[in-house]
Amino acid sequence: MNIEEVKQQAGPREFSPRDDLPREYREAATRMLEFHANSEIMGAYLERPFIRKAPSLERKMAFSAKTQDEIGHGQMLYRAAESLGIKTRDEMLADLANGDGKFLNCFHYPMERYVETPMIAFFVDGAAMRRQATLKSSSWEPYAHAMDKICFEEGMHVKHGESILRELMSGSKKEQEMTQEAFEEWWPRILQFFGPTDDQSTHHDFAEQVGLKTKSNDELRNAFLNTYMPKAEKYGLEIPDEPRIRDNGDGTYEVVEDDLDWEEFFTVSKNEYEGSKQQIDSRARAQEAVQWVRDMLDGQATTGDGPTPQAAD
Ligand SMILES: [Fe+2]
Ligand SMILES: [Fe+2]
Repeated sequence: MNIEEVKQQAGPREFSPRDDLPREYREAATRMLEFHANSEIMGAYLERPFIRKAPSLERKMAFSAKTQDEIGHGQMLYRAAESLGIKTRDEMLADLANGDGKFLNCFHYPMERYVETPMIAFFVDGAAMRRQATLKSSSWEPYAHAMDKICFEEGMHVKHGESILRELMSGSKKEQEMTQEAFEEWWPRILQFFGPTDDQSTHHDFAEQVGLKTKSNDELRNAFLNTYMPKAEKYGLEIPDEPRIRDNGDGTYEVVEDDLDWEEFFTVSKNEYEGSKQQIDSRARAQEAVQWVRDMLDGQATTGDGPTPQAAD
């Protein structure tokens, strides 16, 4: 199939590993999937400390489940990416650990305080749901298929984040103030979640023409604002004055994009932000710590033998 045929035929779940697809399509789909998979893994690293730090057993269990879900999402997406024949899962994981793999802006920033957790679990996962729901109609069938399970679980994450936000915002004055402060810190990053506006986004046109993406960055950001502005206010959060948000008067909102720090966004995107290295290094250490398991499984695959006594120790 050539690229013109791909554009003509593109539709929801149209292409699978059975199709003979041009390299350009397979590369674009790999880029999207790898970015998404890396983001799931890096998101889990922000959640993990709260398995210990959360204030009750129920919350600890919820953080434990969410962390496992995110890692699972990453693994499913690496498999969906691998089926495009451009890069293996091992190559993608190695690139993530050595700093070449790219991932979502929000996961480059440290999350240290409990009051910050709903900023990810409610707002970032809410934003992710917006994008991921549209990816159920992606033209790469393994991607769309993975989204069925992922969206279901993301829905649970948003509920978990909303429950923490509700609890904090109906708690003590101190809790409310700390949550508001965390919100002000995270709000601009959350608005940048969807990436640059469409005319600055280099990969957008092609991805849309071949059906990998069905909605533009701006459409998704606006849809997110329309839903989440009222929710933030419902829980008593005050929307900061900067970046300015235009109220269109009909229940729809738009952010004044020039008020957002795009220079910081692009530094983050290139893994060059001051926090990026710390997050990537924690991933690299984890990758290194389980290298022996990978080596053992590789040995098993090539010899067909079970684990050697030493490796099993
Ligand atoms: Fe996820
Ligand atoms: Fe999630």
